[in-house]
Amino acid sequence: MAERETEMFLLKNKLLTFTVLGLVMLAGAAVPALALQIITPADGALLESPGHLIIKAGDKPAIDGLTIEINGVKSDIIPISASDYRKMFRDLLILQAEFDPGESRLIVEGYEGSRKVAEARAQVYLRSEYDVPPARYRTLPFHLAEREALCTGCHHNLKPTAQELAEPSPVSHPCATCHGKLIDRKHVHGPAGVYECTSCHDTGSKPAKYAVPDREGAFCLDCHQDKYDDFRKSKRMHGPVEVKQCLVCHDPHASDTLAQIRGKVNASCLRCHSTVQSGQHVVRGFSGQLHPLEGLVNPSDPSKPLNCASCHEPHAANLPAYLRGTGASTMVFCRRCHNK
Ligand code: HEC
Ligand code: HEC
Ligand code: HEC
Ligand code: HEC
Ligand code: HEC
Ligand code: HEC
Ligand code: HEC
Ligand code: HEC
Repeated sequence: MAERETEMFLLKNKLLTFTVLGLVMLAGAAVPALALQIITPADGALLESPGHLIIKAGDKPAIDGLTIEINGVKSDIIPISASDYRKMFRDLLILQAEFDPGESRLIVEGYEGSRKVAEARAQVYLRSEYDVPPARYRTLPFHLAEREALCTGCHHNLKPTAQELAEPSPVSHPCATCHGKLIDRKHVHGPAGVYECTSCHDTGSKPAKYAVPDREGAFCLDCHQDKYDDFRKSKRMHGPVEVKQCLVCHDPHASDTLAQIRGKVNASCLRCHSTVQSGQHVVRGFSGQLHPLEGLVNPSDPSKPLNCASCHEPHAANLPAYLRGTGASTMVFCRRCHNK
């Protein structure tokens, strides 16, 4: 079995090399056949977050430095041949990627001294909020057996046992070395913070490990059914909440905004309600001036900033326009903050 896996890996590896070679020939560059590979992100990948950029230099010819060019902006040569470096990472370069939202053209060049001897390319797309990516981009999972095989030599935690997965410490949890930064934020979601990664990610999914039950958020109710039942008690339920698209607004892991909202609260609302900010809001006919919607403290709850959610319940409410409170009149609503 192990042998067959190795065989498969070698075969796939050859295919990868061949693809890179094909690209090089297309580009018409006069460089010899090589093993330089962009391991992740794969060409054609649709990314939800920038993730990592991992390059394998190969050893024929001996590449001792790499440059990385993203959308025309090229780095200096990054040396990878010092003996300390080789001992630790061999011929790999592992970086946190920095892609801007949208399409990125990635060109990696391999150097022997100052002579360019290899090249590999990939085109990837980082999705931002609601844009529709071009059809050629797809979600290409990393956690396939043949890709993990490139890492197991040094990362012994790619086939973790149930006991290892139950380890709540970020120092020893098997997902931490590679994904620790995911929860390095101000507001961390309960189960992610204690490394219960596999309460949402399926260790047995195939072909790629760690699949999630769905990408919208109905599964959030597995643990938050009580919340949803609360929302349902109100007269009105906000569209995306009613259809259980919790992930539209919430990040499943962590963010810098309270309740792990993706980005800032107002931006998360304006994606679907883009007319609000430009028009008159809160007060009609209010002498040309607009009511503030952010940048101040919320007078009705000074521990929070003023934002859309200061006045609107994001999930469900009894009042029209999901206004907060039980106000019998608009005046009562305004007095939440204007009580003089
Ligand atoms: C030759 C050994 C070696 C191989 C092979 C290797 N790594 Fe690593 N990797 C390391 C070392 C050493 C570290 C640093 C560990 C630390 O900081 O605790 C590391 C760290 C990482 C990190 C964390 C970087 C960060 O963001 O701080 C990621 C992600 C990673 N490796 C992914 C991979 C992947 C994916 C593969 C397979 C394609 C792989 N590595 C193969 C040695 C290796
Ligand atoms: C050796 C490093 C390494 C370890 C250990 C690791 N991952 Fe990953 N994982 C990656 C890389 C690299 C990617 C590609 C995205 C990126 O660049 O961050 C990835 C992607 C993912 C994805 C996105 C889907 C996919 O397959 O691309 C999920 C989900 C995921 N990892 C979950 C986990 C979980 C859960 C654990 C612990 C049980 C874990 N990973 C351990 C390196 C690692
Ligand atoms: C509450 C459920 C939940 C928990 C707990 C959780 N994840 Fe995720 N994870 C998801 C969902 C859903 C996605 C799909 C992408 C999205 O919507 O952000 C995802 C995506 C990912 C990705 C792909 C990159 C990205 O940003 O989309 C990685 C890597 C990942 N998870 C790793 C982890 C690790 C490591 C842990 C434990 C520290 C963890 N997850 C805990 C639900 C969860
Ligand atoms: C495995 C169980 C589990 C799943 C699945 C789960 N959560 Fe949670 N969630 C928790 C726990 C535990 C807490 C922390 C205790 C609490 O506040 O209830 C929490 C807290 C929260 C909070 C409150 C944070 C705060 O600041 O008060 C939000 C928001 C949240 N979860 C959203 C989600 C969303 C969105 C999903 C789906 C992507 C989800 N949860 C899936 C267990 C889960
Ligand atoms: C995914 C898209 C989406 C997002 C994101 C979104 N909404 Fe909505 N919203 C809707 C839809 C669809 C409706 C109309 C159906 C309904 O009333 O639920 C609506 C209705 C409303 C209404 C009532 C409008 C009326 O005419 O009575 C208010 C107020 C509102 N949203 C506020 C917010 C706030 C505040 C946020 C951010 C916390 C937000 N929305 C985020 C889709 C969205
Ligand atoms: C339209 C955006 C939006 C959607 C969709 C959404 N939430 Fe929220 N949620 C928010 C905002 C904004 C807050 C923070 C409210 C505040 O600052 O007071 C929040 C706070 C929370 C909290 C913590 C505060 C509390 O009320 O206990 C929980 C738990 C929660 N949401 C769960 C969910 C679940 C479960 C779903 C899916 C059924 C969901 N949310 C869907 C925007 C949303
Ligand atoms: C200071 C309180 C307050 C703030 C902050 C606020 N709103 Fe409103 N919003 C209101 C009031 C009052 C109404 C009018 C309700 C009515 O007509 O009965 C309203 C109406 C709405 C409506 C329905 C009518 C329309 O204009 O389309 C939407 C959608 C809405 N708000 C979204 C938002 C969004 C998105 C934000 C954040 C960018 C926001 N609101 C910030 C108080 C506020
Ligand atoms: C969530 C809190 C909140 C609610 C609810 C609210 N406001 Fe305000 N409003 C503010 C803040 C903050 C300012 C900035 C001026 C300040 O410091 O009072 C402001 C400013 C104003 C101003 C500009 C004059 C002034 O006092 O500086 C008017 C007029 C106003 N609001 C009317 C209303 C009306 C009418 C309603 C009800 C439909 C309302 N507001 C509801 C928070 C709120």
